[in-house]
Amino acid sequence: MSRILSVASEAVPLVKTGGLADVVGALPEALQPLGDEMVTLLPGYPGVIGKLKKSEEAARWDDLFGGPGRLLRAKAAGLDVLVVEAAHLYEREGGPYLTPQGQDWPDNPERFAALCWVAAEIAAGRAGGWVPEVIHGHDWQAGLVPEYLVAAGCRVPFVFTVHNIAFHGNVEAARMGSLRLDSWRFTPDHYEFWGQISALKAGLMGASRITTVSQTYAQELLTEEFGIGMDGVLRGRQAVLSGIVNGIDTGVWNPETDPEIKPYKTPKGKAANKAALRAEFDLPDATGPLCILVSRLTQQKGIDLLLEALPRLLDRGGQLALLGSGDPALEAAVRDAAAAHVNVGVRIGYDEGLSHRMMAGADAILVPSRFEPCGLTQLYGLRYGTLPVVALTGGLADTVINASPAALARNVATGLQFFPINAHALGNALSRLCDLYAQPKIFAAMQRNAMKQPVGWGTSAEAYHSLYADVLTG
Ligand code: ADP
Ligand code: GLC
Repeated sequence: MSRILSVASEAVPLVKTGGLADVVGALPEALQPLGDEMVTLLPGYPGVIGKLKKSEEAARWDDLFGGPGRLLRAKAAGLDVLVVEAAHLYEREGGPYLTPQGQDWPDNPERFAALCWVAAEIAAGRAGGWVPEVIHGHDWQAGLVPEYLVAAGCRVPFVFTVHNIAFHGNVEAARMGSLRLDSWRFTPDHYEFWGQISALKAGLMGASRITTVSQTYAQELLTEEFGIGMDGVLRGRQAVLSGIVNGIDTGVWNPETDPEIKPYKTPKGKAANKAALRAEFDLPDATGPLCILVSRLTQQKGIDLLLEALPRLLDRGGQLALLGSGDPALEAAVRDAAAAHVNVGVRIGYDEGLSHRMMAGADAILVPSRFEPCGLTQLYGLRYGTLPVVALTGGLADTVINASPAALARNVATGLQFFPINAHALGNALSRLCDLYAQPKIFAAMQRNAMKQPVGWGTSAEAYHSLYADVLTG
């Protein structure tokens, strides 16, 4: 039974750009039955401040990285939160990381350093009555916590979770002063990384334990291909690195009770949702599988591979409905595909409700990511009997059982995996999907297997619970 301060840049339902928010938002409730008390520390973006109920001031600073700041303790949408209110850092139009024009905020290093500095103040008992026994930080935005803990003379252990190693939070050494970092610690053992300040490295070096969001990604991170420059650092810290796969909120993602859909208990019940989804995307009836993709549109997600492989699906009577937003070039490319094919429908934007209706109505969900630390949409797919077709990498490797002849013979298959990660192999997987779809009994058996998979937080919450207990006993 531990008191944990979770430090992150986003948390559902207050602010979300990706799966990180889902995980940070779900963990406190998942840990509660195990007796752990988790309070979540977040930046006070306008969207977050606006949702706080009955907040109390826990601390106040005249100069919090360039302006006044306050720490607010509040309940918000079921979460117990501490929010850093600092207008000069967080009160602006745009996203948590990007300007309305899509550029990184130039002061992102200071904005998230302030969050980490406040975490250390809380741990040192200088911000209200509540003091954590463990700090659990997520991604580079929480990476500087151990530096400020040392500066504050505070020995609270730090657990660091890597959701995506691609973002390092690097900044030139000249910013050391504005980041309030101790210059004597600007060494390879702490936060120095190839002559720069690296928040991610600071977190990796200062953590008692490092986790990432699947076991396969924990292994991949040690390789040059996936470690993206941090593989050497991680190999040095291999002894404290482990993988804990993400769960999903099975209350929110439940085909039997989902208010967005026509609820169903068995794959048969998907038919009505499929008709509705076709209507929503203006797709005609078809003989092949209706596939969906719900994602940020970035290089990571392999959207270009899908566009190249798409004829292999369309030629067999298959269809694609895609929901996403991000890289303007990818947005244009998927729009072009929809304009060129009657069996392709595209929605550019972010739409939670639509993502539920898509999961309910589709036969398959495509996740052709070049790398994927965990991935959540394949888990939603499993729960809704929407078979995942995924690249064999990271969490996609760990959560889907490929329809190999052996898995089909034992009736355990839940989806399809392809490797190597290229358009040709994805095309082959789409062909196999069409073959399976043409055998309704086998397809329905796979859907039933998928719906039975344990995709909730149960086992993983226990793993975090044990980890906190371990770091506390040293
Ligand atoms: P990542 O965190 O790398 O974006 P994940 O699969 O872990 O990938 O999480 C993505 C989350 O964001 C999922 O909950 C997914 O449903 C959601 N999501 C992504 N894009 C959209 C969108 N355009 N509309 C609705 N939900 C989206
Ligand atoms: C990152 C990863 C994704 C993972 C999510 C939550 O955004 O890209 O694979 O599911 O974090 O851990």
